[in-house]
Amino acid sequence: MAITRVCFVCLGNICRSPTAEGVFRHLVAAGGREHAFEIDSAGTAAYHEGERPDRRSIATARARGVELPGRARQFRREDFERFDYVLAMDRDNCGTLLRLAPDERAATKVSLLRRFDPAAPAEAEVPDPYYGGPDGFDRVFEICMAACGGLLAHIVGLEGHEGAG
Ligand code: 4NP
Repeated sequence: MAITRVCFVCLGNICRSPTAEGVFRHLVAAGGREHAFEIDSAGTAAYHEGERPDRRSIATARARGVELPGRARQFRREDFERFDYVLAMDRDNCGTLLRLAPDERAATKVSLLRRFDPAAPAEAEVPDPYYGGPDGFDRVFEICMAACGGLLAHIVGLEGHEGAG
């Protein structure tokens, strides 16, 4: 079976995209599909390169049984070759990724993560929780759970159609 490669992207790669990565890994593992995915996250900025996720994000996820792996890194142009889905947390980061995309094929890999949540309004974002209170981190987690569930359903649905014609 083909491997689907997914990268979640925010600004710093310490709050939102590691949460989305951890949640998606959790959902993929719960469905027994680890073998079918490569999952990563990155930031459009390099401010926090090498750091573990923000302790507020780690605590929020851990309280819900989700561990956040990895260390921050900046998204690079070469990442467009590796990943099938490049999922931006907000419109700013979506714009940065589209400007970085080397060609049209790369650009088509970029979308807003919440596009995969059927209950989210068009163009909905994952709000940046960094300068806010703990409620923001809870909200990010819930948003990521809904959107990552939709993303997984979308990808699994595509697999179901492979070879059907
Ligand atoms: P993230 O949150 O993009 O969800 O990781 C932020 C982390 C750090 C900063 C901004 C947002 N910062 O300005 O350092």
